[in-house]
Amino acid sequence: MRQQGFVLWLTGLSGAGKTTIARSLEQELRSRNQLVEVLDGDVVRSQLCQDLGFSRRDRDINIRRIGFVANLLSRNGVATIVSAVSPYREIRDELRQSVNHFIEVYVNAPLEVCESRDVKGLYAKARSGEIKSFTGIDSPYEPPIHPEITCYTAEETLGESTAKILRTLEQMELIAVADRRFILESSNAQKRGRPNSIYLWVTEEISMPRQENLGFGGAIAVRFRVFWSRFWALARLARVGRFAR
Ligand code: ADX
Repeated sequence: MRQQGFVLWLTGLSGAGKTTIARSLEQELRSRNQLVEVLDGDVVRSQLCQDLGFSRRDRDINIRRIGFVANLLSRNGVATIVSAVSPYREIRDELRQSVNHFIEVYVNAPLEVCESRDVKGLYAKARSGEIKSFTGIDSPYEPPIHPEITCYTAEETLGESTAKILRTLEQMELIAVADRRFILESSNAQKRGRPNSIYLWVTEEISMPRQENLGFGGAIAVRFRVFWSRFWALARLARVGRFAR
């Protein structure tokens, strides 16, 4: 069956987590054998849009170029993930009309949170006036009114945001429904630090292929850990059974 293309458009402030979510989704979709491409604002600006700055006009041109490429990819069955600030509602709505299967994802984190993260040190420069027209500081960000998905990255884990997007893509029948346990595994592992032993036991056959680049020693270690976890899971079940009687 031919893969369905779509454009997942991640919009939000600098530092909201767009690139992180994009890379996590890329990995998950690849592990489901999807063709995936990520168009990241920073990367595109270093190649296709080197000539552009951050005026409204330049940003609009930047977004239209990214939208054009994304549409080509989507038309050809590629799962295309765009992560760009794309601060203006009007141009995003324009893309919604012209791009094949456009899904808007609002990566929502309060300005204070993005500023405190300041991963690239750009907020400090914007505050000191070294950088002008910085989104959220002295240039506007217009949040989407009806995005298909909103990820609250100050409250959700990366696993939860990723799972939420994948679930929506499944509901929209843009990707095949994956084994529920796989999604649960990633969000649970994120939430608790690591999955519990029964979890490992249940998810072994799904998580195993993901360990394939561990090498021979690593594979033995993983198998031993799974064996050990199963042993303890059974022991725990036996104890629960004894207390229940
Ligand atoms: S957009 O507004 O045209 O969509 P884009 O996503 O391509 O922006 O690029 C934003 C990235 O450029 C930010 O993540 C940040 O690293 C960098 N950047 C540099 N100057 C600015 C600025 N004035 N406003 C926003 N981002 C800037």
